[in-house]
Parts: sequence; structure tokens; C-alpha cells
Amino acid sequence: MENLALLGGPRAVQGVAEELFTWPIVTPEIEEATLSVLRSGIISGLQITMEFEREFAEWLGLKYALAHNTGTAAIHGALYGLGVGAGDEIICPSMTYWASCVPAFSLGATVVLADIDPQTLCIDPADLEKRITERTKAVVVVHYAGMPADMDSILEIARRRDIAVLEDASHSHGSLFKGRMTGTMGEVAGFSLMSAKSFPIGEGGMLVTNDREILERSIAFGHYARHGESLTIPDIRAAAGVPWGGYKYRLNQLCSAIGRVQLKLYPDQMAEIDRGMNHFWDLLEGVPGIRPRRPDRKTGTTMGGWYNPLGYYESEKLGGLSITRFCQAVRAEGFEECTPGCNRALHTHPIFQNLDVYGGGKPTILANARPGIDVRPNHESLPVSDTVQSWVFRIPWFKRYIPEDIERFALAFKKVADSFEQLLPDDPGNPANMGNWGTSSLVRP
Ligand SMILES: Cc1ncc(COP(=O)(O)O)c(C=O)c1O
Repeated sequence: MENLALLGGPRAVQGVAEELFTWPIVTPEIEEATLSVLRSGIISGLQITMEFEREFAEWLGLKYALAHNTGTAAIHGALYGLGVGAGDEIICPSMTYWASCVPAFSLGATVVLADIDPQTLCIDPADLEKRITERTKAVVVVHYAGMPADMDSILEIARRRDIAVLEDASHSHGSLFKGRMTGTMGEVAGFSLMSAKSFPIGEGGMLVTNDREILERSIAFGHYARHGESLTIPDIRAAAGVPWGGYKYRLNQLCSAIGRVQLKLYPDQMAEIDRGMNHFWDLLEGVPGIRPRRPDRKTGTTMGGWYNPLGYYESEKLGGLSITRFCQAVRAEGFEECTPGCNRALHTHPIFQNLDVYGGGKPTILANARPGIDVRPNHESLPVSDTVQSWVFRIPWFKRYIPEDIERFALAFKKVADSFEQLLPDDPGNPANMGNWGTSSLVRP
């Protein structure tokens, strides 16, 4: 094995094709669709958006889709659609992006954080069940970083304990859980469609459901412009005209037009990504210290789009080498985005501890909770979310199947794992705070 680049050797990754990572892929059809909206002047209209909704719902085999201007808005609308309100509790994994649950506070509800399963990095069904109380209205299931959650167990618990399931499918467009599309198994789902996601339309979100009441409540909440034609339930229709939440969540039609084209492109793009990612993991099969994060394809479970793909790190197999040092060496080999960890666990943020967001005179997480009960999460009860940063790392997200380039990236990881002993002497260990809140990736200097 050649010397590590960090110690003066040649880089494993050199001269790879730029398009390997280009995303979104902007085709002439996307350009034309966008320009035609611009030329028509109906950027704020609804006609193209409604076509996009109809096609998106059809793709998932569901009755309704309601486009929003962000994924955060779609989740906010979905929570309201489910009837989450004053004094209710929702359960959400601590390991997710904040938008999966923070909007619940503005509805007067509170958030109970649950731990994740180390195999899936999605909510641990046993821990979910332990946290259900008479106030629990819904669980938010996040199919984290492309991998579907264990929906068989979650749905069984939810049905038995009479709570609703909101799927946050922002990382899992097109992923299958035992042959079923993520986003189709709960009462309602929200998808982010912003540019960095595997289904990118610019900026946007989608709520999907088979339930007419959820749909109409979500329309009432943030879509006043369609109160006229879309509200059929008499009690909801009676208060049409002003958005009940005070929010305006309409998606602009430039993004809807892009979305309509993406629906046509996405299956092929997904298949190409899938091929590349599986090739990468096949090449690293059996390399000590690195365990693939990929679903069991034999069950029909897949990672649609492979959003934000991760690998598992086994420090004990590499003489205790810290993940920080490991990633530093991989970056030196030429994969500059190799960082330890993933989203920072929510329970470590002040909003889930002591922040008084709405001036209620006490922490918001308690202001909306059962009197006398402290629902604030603690580290001890969330051991997997609390430590995950030290045993997962970022791998390349290949958008194209270019085997010879993918092999260079696999070599970078293999080289570092095989030469771990050379890295032990200057290992700084892991810093206290790893992972991120998802704030920096879009700001380029
Ligand atoms: C799990 C998850 N849920 C929701 C969202 C919110 O989506 P958006 O950024 O489109 O508001 C994101 C966005 O990154 C996410 O990662």
C-alpha cells in the first residue's frame, strides 16, 4: 500500500470527472420548463403547481399532494392537518434536522425526543413506545439519510396505541421499505424538495396523504388562495378566506415546473446513483473499521437517491483511532467532504432545554407540556443519538456511475483503514461537539 497522502504520499483521488457530483442535473428540458413559466408571468399562479401535485401523488400512488414553499412548511402543515394542537405531544427522533419537529411548538404542542436504532439511524420503535403518553398525538418518523425506518414495528405500535404517523421523507424520495414507498405508509408525509435533496426543485416541499380532512386542514392553515375550490368539509369551508395559521405556504411555479420534469428524470437518476453507491460499498466489503450503511436489498428495501450517505466507523478495529483523525486522512486523500458525524442530536440544543421562544415565562418545551412533568430530554436516555457522531462518517454521494472514479474514492478509504497504525501517533481524538445543525452547506465564500 502506498504512503498516506496526509503523511506525504500521493493522493488516491485525482483527476476525477466533475459531473460525478454535479447536482441538480440541469437538462435542457428543465431550462425550457423554467423559462416558459418566466415568460408566461404566472410565477405565483397555481395551475402548474396543481399539475405537479397530481403527478407527485400519482408517483406515490396516493390521492392527494399539497405543494409548499419549503419542506419545513409541509411538515408544519402536516402537523396541523393531523390536529396537533395545544397541550399535545409529538414524538420525534433526536437525530434529525430540526424541521422534523420544531414547528410543533408554534402550534402549542410539545416535543418528546426519542432515541434512534443504531442499525437504521431512524427512530427506535421500542424507545418510541416507551415515550407514548395519553397526550401523544403523533410520531414523526424520519427516514434518515435515505434509509427507511422499521415501518412494520412503528405502524404496529401506532395502530395499537392510537397515535398518528407523520413520515418525514425529506431524505428518502423513492426509498422502498419492503417494497412500499417511504411517505406512503403513515397518515401523512412531508418531503423537502430543496436543491441539495435527492429530488431537487430549487426550494420547496410536498405534503402527501390519502386523508381528505388532513388535506383540507392543511389548506386552511397555509393556502388561503385555494380556499375557494378546495375546501369541501363544511366546518372548514365555513372559515375560508384567511389562512388559519397566518402562513402563506404556496410554492412558486418556477419550482413546480422543475418538479414536473424531475418526476420524469428521477427514476433513471435514482437507478444510476444506486448503481454507483452499491459499487462503492462492494469495493469496501471486508475493509476493517468500515461498515457499509446500505439496506438489505433482499427484503426489497432500498435507499432511493441515497441522500447524504453515511458509513459506520468501528474505531476498535483500527487500534482506537478517532473518527476525527480517520476523516482527516481521507480528506487528504482527496475526498474533501469526509467529515465525522451527521446532524447534531436535537437534545443538545437549547430549544429542547431552556429556551423561552414565545415569552411564556418558562422554557417553551415545558410551557406547552403537562403541568408538573419535565419532558426535557437528557443525555442518558438517548445514548445512541448522543454518541452517533463518533461512529458515522460521510461518504461520497455519486450522482453518476463512473466506475473508475468511484474506485479512486473507495481506494482513499481503504488506504486509510489499511494504514491506520501510521495515524495513531498524532491522533488528536474527537472534539466535544461534532455534527452540524445543517447551517453552513449552502453558504459559499
Ligand atoms: C429531515 C428533514 N426534514 C425537513 C427538512 C426541511 O426541509 P426544507 O429545508 O425544504 O425546509 C429537512 C431539510 O434539510 C430535513 O433534512
